[in-house]
Amino acid sequence: MPLRRAELQAHDAGAQTALTAACALLGTLMETPMGTLMETPMDTPMDTPTGTPMSWPVAELQSALGALLPGLQVQVLAEGDSTNTRLLEQARSDTTPRLLAATAQTAGRGRMGRAWLAQPGASLCFSMGLPLAPRRWEGLSLAAGLALADALEPINSITQPAIGLKWPNDLWLWEGAGRGRKLGGVLIETTGNMQQRYCVVGVGLNIAAPEPTGDALLSMPRACLQELQPGLTAPAALARVAAPLLQALLRFEAEGFAALVQSYARRDLLRGQAVYTFGQAELRGHAEGVDADGALCLRDLQSRHVHRIVSGEVSVRFSDTQIPALSPASC
Ligand code: BTN
Repeated sequence: MPLRRAELQAHDAGAQTALTAACALLGTLMETPMGTLMETPMDTPMDTPTGTPMSWPVAELQSALGALLPGLQVQVLAEGDSTNTRLLEQARSDTTPRLLAATAQTAGRGRMGRAWLAQPGASLCFSMGLPLAPRRWEGLSLAAGLALADALEPINSITQPAIGLKWPNDLWLWEGAGRGRKLGGVLIETTGNMQQRYCVVGVGLNIAAPEPTGDALLSMPRACLQELQPGLTAPAALARVAAPLLQALLRFEAEGFAALVQSYARRDLLRGQAVYTFGQAELRGHAEGVDADGALCLRDLQSRHVHRIVSGEVSVRFSDTQIPALSPASC
């Protein structure tokens, strides 16, 4: 029997349970940006570049995430402007914790005002929004990136990771010292007052190589998770990372970044590399890791001074500068 919007209130917990149960019977049920429900029965696969239907694990996520953070609501959009924008707007009137994924985004946003382009099926785009009150916010994007990398590629103390982290928010496929290609990124935004902030952690992950389109931005060199795990889909990647990400956010709120410094160092793509920064601070130097607050420690090659870079409005690039022998420093 078709499900009508009048039978459900989109943001009501009971209705969501009914909705997820109905999903199992009807196939994937999505909410459009305008809030109307759109049914995609199992025999009507959504178009993706690979031609495979997308079936999102809404019920499983609802139960796994709800167990970690009671009341959290899971939704999937067939298409939306930006999952970050959507959650920030909703949070003005309703601070329910949410996970919102979108098969396609029409106005996806990246850091520093850049656009985030993603082809349906070739990428995973989702945002997790929740009220959060950490003692300090610095280090949150590093904690989120680390949780994503560890969920996608569990490592032990002797394994050389394939997924590296490029401060402050990128996941890269590691291809040797100072080399690699971007796998994805994290965009963290908050809204609210000083007492109670609602935090939105947006995640974009490249799943498959994009179809050739002639779009220069889409055809820039990038890595995709299928290089590590052939056959991986966006819904499967979401099922893998969602709960570890939520756990990491809750742990960060309680404990901060300090406990993660060693784990981060194992995936730190910049450590030991000559780099330069641009944006609010323009510096050139030797990256010496991150400190207990998640600040990037950058030793100036002329003055030998170690700068702590904390601003979110700074980007880092590898530099070709030769690094003279340096004694280890902490900042
Ligand atoms: C970056 O590397 O610049 C961060 C990219 C973050 C993209 C994700 S996709 C889901 C969420 N919605 C957005 O508009 N942006 C984030």
